[in-house]
Amino acid sequence: MGDYRSVYHQSLSDPDAFWATAAEDIHWYKKWDKVLDASNAPFYLWFAGGELNTCYNAVDYHVDNGRGDQLAIIYDSPVTDTQRTITYSELRDLVATFAGVLRDQGVSKGDRVIIYMPMIPEAAIAMLACARLGAIHSVVFGGFAANELATRIDDAKPKAIVSASCGIEPGRVIAYKPLLDGAIDIASHKPAKCVILARPQANAELQAGRDVDWHKAAAAASPADCVPVAATDPLYILYTSGTTGQPKGVVRDNGGHAVALKWSMKNIYDVDDGEVYWAASDVGWVVGHSYIVYGPLLKGCTTVIYEGKPVGTPDPGAFWRVINEHDVGVLFTAPTAFRAIKKEDPAGDYLKKYDLSKFRMLFLAGERCDPDTLQWAQDMLKVPVIDHWWQTETGWAIAANVMGIDPAPVKAGSPTRAVPGYDVQVLNEAGEQVPPGDMGSIVIKLPMPPGCLPTLWNNDARFVDSYLSRYDGYYLTGDAGYIDADGYLWIMSRIDDVINVAGHRLSTGAMEEVLASHPDVAECAVIGAADALKGQLPLGLVVLKAGVNRSDDEIVPELVKLVRDRIGPVAAFKQAVIVKRLPKTRSGKVLRGTMRQIADGETYKAPATIDDPAILDEITGHLKELGYPRG
Ligand code: COA
Ligand code: AMP
Repeated sequence: MGDYRSVYHQSLSDPDAFWATAAEDIHWYKKWDKVLDASNAPFYLWFAGGELNTCYNAVDYHVDNGRGDQLAIIYDSPVTDTQRTITYSELRDLVATFAGVLRDQGVSKGDRVIIYMPMIPEAAIAMLACARLGAIHSVVFGGFAANELATRIDDAKPKAIVSASCGIEPGRVIAYKPLLDGAIDIASHKPAKCVILARPQANAELQAGRDVDWHKAAAAASPADCVPVAATDPLYILYTSGTTGQPKGVVRDNGGHAVALKWSMKNIYDVDDGEVYWAASDVGWVVGHSYIVYGPLLKGCTTVIYEGKPVGTPDPGAFWRVINEHDVGVLFTAPTAFRAIKKEDPAGDYLKKYDLSKFRMLFLAGERCDPDTLQWAQDMLKVPVIDHWWQTETGWAIAANVMGIDPAPVKAGSPTRAVPGYDVQVLNEAGEQVPPGDMGSIVIKLPMPPGCLPTLWNNDARFVDSYLSRYDGYYLTGDAGYIDADGYLWIMSRIDDVINVAGHRLSTGAMEEVLASHPDVAECAVIGAADALKGQLPLGLVVLKAGVNRSDDEIVPELVKLVRDRIGPVAAFKQAVIVKRLPKTRSGKVLRGTMRQIADGETYKAPATIDDPAILDEITGHLKELGYPRG
């Protein structure tokens, strides 16, 4: 505990001393030469010259320090009706053996490995096995279609892919192997080997010479030791949506990442070694990387891998059951999960069935947390409910109520103040800081703290162009908002074409590229319309080519299917409207913002430069018929 202001001030006035102290908590084979190497700014390097192994710190270290018999992982899967526990000793053996399997497939330090897995312990084991060898993993979320997987294969050029025979969604088994085979067919880069975990719910046809069975390979493998890597070597690549169909390969280093995440477990989440920490997310997202796998394991906690949903598996009491059965102290999830629970159990009747006396805190992130949801969660759970704000690029919270340092009063709708290490500012168009309360572009003054992305995979130019070129010396978060007089941040909207659907970050630009590929489509726009459950849902507005006289009822389902097939079910693209024209300025800029305001029932003012104001009335009429606004 300490005083927020002094800790924050110290982190910015002497970052070297601040992070060197935090780094003492990590096991190093060789200490760093320099805490922060700024010699090649804006490409900053943390702990340059240092050598460590992230898997050693997350697994073996605890076995070597007396935690071998403690649970590392609790797997709880209502969709398969199974539970499994893994101690730190068992985890070390499983990871070392699987690292041996990967090594047998030719994987070594610096090689990329794509992991396309459902929420099972083997997903974490595969990630840690890569880290053990110094190989770079890239986990792809199971709800993405073959095409998205192919894009990532071509960018990361993996030597091997690790997958499973299936994932399980409520009511349906998703065979992964056809998706994987399809992706490899589409991709120009071909991985040498695929390791496939057979699950009882689906068979996977193995391709001779390329595919190997996880268990058979593990039975034949010998355990691999941890390979020391440079602090600045990449640990993983995680692709995230940008403004185009080409996702951005966010790179995470080993040293800064381990230091920042371990520091965050105590200082932000106020969690101690030995506690049960549960992030109800998916290993395919950054929350899963940081707070299902690396953060809790680095800290010596027990992490929960939950294969289920907040509702329907089997009921809205699912989260309370898990907390109760496994003595969860801290839960981290997205506000959408709580909106879903609230919708089905507004009075909290399911909650009353469980003993939550060990439960201490709820953290929410991934999307804006509306005050109603925060209030409801507080009323029901009677524990602190903490909104915090971050993104794939940073890997850990930029703004939060730092519960392990100095808890601050909660203001519903704000993720509280900048986390130590982050110099968060709000700038106007001209790059000047705005006064408290004024909206602007939210930026982080460089250098960012350890753990944040050093660059994009194989694309320094895009890194600079996307994040550093707008304001010299600052990282552009892509979010807009303001800082109030008490220093609290308010995140209000994105400044780009990224939307947030059920806490999942998606690119409307990528969906537009898919719609535009339909033979009948002349042009299109996709906007994120407010949705009471998922925060936002994509909505397509489509203009057909001249001469096409097929009905909307024929074309719209084709468009919906196209997005589902190309991007995946996670896009939740279910609605498109055929319009005569898209509203544009006279210079041809599509007025997506105005269309979003119409869909959300907001009052809007068409720009003076609009080429045909009448089109807005047509769109308003169409959207009313479809039941908008729905927020
Ligand atoms: N593999 C395959 N398909 C998947 C998938 C996966 N791993 N995850 C989701 N999908 C599918 C779903 O089955 C659904 O398909 P459908 O259109 O056929 O119904 C679609 O993708 C959309 O999924 P989802 O956004 O999960 O919506 P849902 O309606 O199934 O569930 C909630 C709604 C609110 C319960 C769910 O969104 C949720 O749990 N949200 C929490 C958010 C979260 O964990 N975010 C992570 C960041 S912290
Ligand atoms: P992702 O990279 O998928 O984690 O998405 C990051 C984006 O989600 C941020 O840039 C924000 O737009 C949004 N986001 C995440 N957490 C919050 C939050 N607590 N409040 C508001 N927006 C958030």
